[in-house]
Amino acid sequence: MTLPSRHAPLAMDAEAFKALGRQLVDQLASLLASVPARPVTRDESPSSVRDALSLTGPLPEHGTDPAALLTDTARKLFDHSLFNAHPRFFGYITAPPAPIGILGDFLASALNPNVGSWTLSPAATEIEAQTVRWIAELIGFGFSPSGGGGLLVSGGNMANIVCFLAARAAAAPWDVRAKGIDGGHGRQMVAYASTEAHTWIQKAADLCGLGTEAIRWIETRDTLQMDVAALRRAIDTDIAAGHIPFLVAGTAGSVSTGAVDPLPEIAAVCRDKGIWFHVDGAYGGFAAALPDAPRDLRGLAEADSVAVDPHKWLYAPLEAGCALVRNGDALRKTFAYHPAYYHFDDRAVNFVDYGPQNSRGFRALKVWLALRQAGAAGYRRMIADDIELSRAMARAVERHPELELTTQALSITTFRYVPADMRTQRGSEVVEHYLNHLNEALLDDLQRSGELFVSHAMLRGRYVLRACIVNFHTSGSDVDAVPEIVVRQGRILDRRLRPIAELDGAGARPR
Ligand SMILES: Cc1ncc(COP(=O)(O)O)c(C=O)c1O
Repeated sequence: MTLPSRHAPLAMDAEAFKALGRQLVDQLASLLASVPARPVTRDESPSSVRDALSLTGPLPEHGTDPAALLTDTARKLFDHSLFNAHPRFFGYITAPPAPIGILGDFLASALNPNVGSWTLSPAATEIEAQTVRWIAELIGFGFSPSGGGGLLVSGGNMANIVCFLAARAAAAPWDVRAKGIDGGHGRQMVAYASTEAHTWIQKAADLCGLGTEAIRWIETRDTLQMDVAALRRAIDTDIAAGHIPFLVAGTAGSVSTGAVDPLPEIAAVCRDKGIWFHVDGAYGGFAAALPDAPRDLRGLAEADSVAVDPHKWLYAPLEAGCALVRNGDALRKTFAYHPAYYHFDDRAVNFVDYGPQNSRGFRALKVWLALRQAGAAGYRRMIADDIELSRAMARAVERHPELELTTQALSITTFRYVPADMRTQRGSEVVEHYLNHLNEALLDDLQRSGELFVSHAMLRGRYVLRACIVNFHTSGSDVDAVPEIVVRQGRILDRRLRPIAELDGAGARPR
C-alpha cells in the first residue's frame, strides 16, 4: 500500500528559517534605524499605496520564493507606512513598539500557544497571569483577598468592554446572561460617564444590547473633569424612575486632553449608591505609577475594575490591552461556560473563562519581556519624561505669539494657530469660525507634510491641534521644533484662506 504523499509548500527547514530570519532581522535593524530620517508619513492616495504594493491583482495560483518575498515586503512596507516610532509622531495615543516587544512577538508566534486554556499553554498562561499581577501592582490596583482577575485583550476598547460586561452581570437582579438585558422586568440598566469619555462606552452599550441611550452623559467642569454633583443627581433621578444604575466609568486620562476625573469622589458616590466603579485608564492609568501622581489619578485604586493599555504607555507593539477586575470571580461569572467538548483543569487559570475570546494568542510575552527589561523604575522614568516633554511643549507653545495654548495634562498638549492680527478678536463668532476652519486645514497640511504628526480635539466648540507624547524616541529638540513648524505652515495657509473667508470685516485686514 502506498501512503499518500505530503505537500507542504509552507514548510521550511531549520537552515532556511535561520537564513530568512537573519536576513529579515538585519534588514529591519537598518530600516528601524532609518525611521527618524524618514517622513512620519507620506502624502499618498489609497490607490497609489495599492499600486506600490501591487495589491490589485488576483490571488496567485502558485507560490513564490520566500526570501525575495520577505525582503521586498519589508522594504515596501517601510516606504509606504506611517511611523508611530518616529520621534515627531504625536498623534492620537499610539506608542512606538519597544524593540524587545517586537522580538517577543516573534518568539510568541514561534511557539504559538493557545492561551485559552492552561493545558494548551502552561508557560504562556502563567506568564500572562504574572503580567496581569505586575500591571496591577505597577498602577497600585489591589486585588480582593479572595483573588482578583484580569487578562490581556486586544486594546483599550476591549478591556473596557470586558469590565462593562462584568459590571452588568454583577449588578443585574436577574440572570442577565440567560434572560437578556431586560429579563422580563421592564427595568432599564443605565451607565454613567462624562461627556469627555471615549467612544468605547457607546460600543459597549450597543454591543451588549443595552443601547447607547442607556448611557448618561455627565457634564464636566471647566477642567473637563466629571462634575460629581451632576453624577449624583443623575443617579438619583434614575433610581426614582425605577432604572438600575449599574456602572460609573471614570476616565483616568481623557483621549482629547488627558483630563483625569476626580476618581476618589466618584468612588465615594459609587460606594454610597452600591454601583460598580470602573476606571478607563487606557491612556493615563500607567501614570498612576509615578510617585507624584495626583490624588485624582491614584483614586483608580478604589475601583472595582480598571482598563489599561500596554500598547500605549507600556510601549508594547499593538495589540495589548488589559482588563483588571478586583474580584476575579466576577469575570468568571460573566464569561465562563463549560461545554461538553472542553475539559480543562479548573484548578488552573483558563483564560477562556475570563473574557470573550476562545482561542487566544500569547500577547503577554511582549509586555512581560518589556516589564522585565525596563523594570518598574525604568517605566516610571519613561512615563515621567513623556509628561515632562509635553509640559516643555506647552511652555514653548505659550511663548509663541501666534499660538494659543488651550490645555496641558498628563502628556497631552492642545493648542491652536491664531494669526497675530486676530489675537484680540478671539471670541467673535466669525473669527472663531475662521480659526476652526484654519486649524482644521492646518492639521491636514501638517499631517501630509510628514514633518510631524499631530491630531486634533474639539474643545467647547474650538478646533485645536493636539500633541500626545507616549514615545520614548521623542527628545527635547523634537518638542522644541513644533511651534516653528506649525506657525510656518499656519502662516502659509492663512495667506491662502483669508482672502476667500467670509469674515464680515472682522480679521480681514490686508496682510
Ligand atoms: C481614554 C481611552 N479609552 C479607550 C481607548 C481605546 O483604546 P484602543 O484604541 O486601544 O481600543 C482610548 C484610545 O485612545 C483612550 O484614549
